[in-house]
Amino acid sequence: MIANHAMVSSAHPLATSIGLDIMRNGGNAIDAAIATHFALAVVYPQAGNVGGGGFAVIRMNDGTINSLDFREKAPALAHRDMFLNAEGQLYDLRSTHGHMASGVPGAVDGMFALHQKYGTLTMAELIEPSVEISLRGYALTPLAAEILNTNQKEFQTYNRWSTPYHSDQIWEAGDTIRQPDLAKTLKHIQTNGRNGFYDGIVADQIVAEMQSGNGLISHADLKNYQSVWRKPISGNYRGHQIISMAPPSSGGIALLQLLQGTEGYPIADWGHNSTKTIHLMSELERRVYADRALYLGDPDFVKVPIKQLLKPSYNQRRFADISFDVVTPSERVSAGEIPPSESPETTHLSVVDSNGNAVAITTTLNSSFGNKVMVKGAGFFLNNEMDDFSSKPGSPNQFGLIGGEANAILPHKRMLSSMTPTIVTYKDQLKMVVGTPGGSTIITSVYQTLLNVIDHGMGMQEAVNAKRVHHQWYPDEVRVETGALTENVQTDLEQLGHQLRITDKIGRMDCILVLPDGRLEGGADPRGDNTALGY
Ligand code: DON
Repeated sequence: MIANHAMVSSAHPLATSIGLDIMRNGGNAIDAAIATHFALAVVYPQAGNVGGGGFAVIRMNDGTINSLDFREKAPALAHRDMFLNAEGQLYDLRSTHGHMASGVPGAVDGMFALHQKYGTLTMAELIEPSVEISLRGYALTPLAAEILNTNQKEFQTYNRWSTPYHSDQIWEAGDTIRQPDLAKTLKHIQTNGRNGFYDGIVADQIVAEMQSGNGLISHADLKNYQSVWRKPISGNYRGHQIISMAPPSSGGIALLQLLQGTEGYPIADWGHNSTKTIHLMSELERRVYADRALYLGDPDFVKVPIKQLLKPSYNQRRFADISFDVVTPSERVSAGEIPPSESPETTHLSVVDSNGNAVAITTTLNSSFGNKVMVKGAGFFLNNEMDDFSSKPGSPNQFGLIGGEANAILPHKRMLSSMTPTIVTYKDQLKMVVGTPGGSTIITSVYQTLLNVIDHGMGMQEAVNAKRVHHQWYPDEVRVETGALTENVQTDLEQLGHQLRITDKIGRMDCILVLPDGRLEGGADPRGDNTALGY
């Protein structure tokens, strides 16, 4: 998709077109992003949300950069060992399923904070299209129908009532979903602003839902939630400026460490997904994810050594022992078995307006449909973000990620994230807006997409389509998207000592590239229903 002026790329065609209409009607990129975010809460319930949280990275056309942390927080009653039984072992499922898994949602506060600083249309106007589709209904795509069908049992297990997503029959493409309760919630927000969610009826409904299932979120938790403006992480790669998210996301730091480690090597000459390129990326990734596990957490609670981790001299030392003849085995940190990740869901949207303002938002419920609990009467799913804490130091979470003290649970703390909304400039001009879901694979998907454009000379859609690989230190294996590597490359990597694991899909990117002539190229991931539209 190529357009002359403005573009939105998001996980759903309806959400994308709602964002684009906002810009056609005079709104800027931030207005469009807010409208798209609310629309995703209606038409992409597995990850779009009002019951979750996320991060926004912004670059205005005057060159100012900013980022907003609207990540969920642990409730006041949360405590370090809340997911451990009397023997000190992790309970099954409590950090991922049901009421205890939810952090205090940040999304609605985040949208209001963004709007207050940058918005030009009214919030009521930005939410209105979402109210309308909640009432009128929207048609399921084939993929959306399939996802609902695979989640029926869990909807029934974790809800005391029949949500709009329950069905005794098989959902089919074209079936219509109407959400009158969600429409009411959105109207409360339209009428009462931020307090329409964090106070009043909706807050009562959230707290009642919590009390019905051992959940911890209280009225005070909701009232006190506040998103935080943070200084973005920024650094250089081959003459480009990379602007990304700071802690409590690990994304920006890890991405820049990976890029620093890559810059000294001619990977364009080595080729995309060649043995040498994959070997280098995997060796860098296992080291960077090991740093992530030890050092990163909520900067409001732990001292994150951001400067040290981004120092070129540190990373030179850190990567100095990479050999091109042999694999460095990841240290064994835990003997625990890694649970397979259950089709997790997050979602990213990228927007550029006709004045060159840009915003990248990654937002999430964590797993698909979060903790699977829809707030009774309010019509939205709650997140299961508590699983992003390290519930037991050294034991992997649902993404197989290991963490330590820096990411232990404490009241009011934010759980460490991998979300990596990123903006790239070149010679002070906007060049790319990038991001994706994918849990632990988010960082490496963004990394590869940047390399695909900057080193391998791909266009935006081609860079998004390109097959991906991933290493995260532990488990000690290279995850390889089906078809990513030729048989020869696979054999060569195995001979070097890499364990390869072929997996289905990695990531669902939504990206925008500014072409040399100033037009915009969207890259919407064919792995999902993602759609880029522009004018
Ligand atoms: O913040 C994080 O890193 C995770 N909660 C993101 C989850 C995710 O991307 C799942 N999506 N596929």
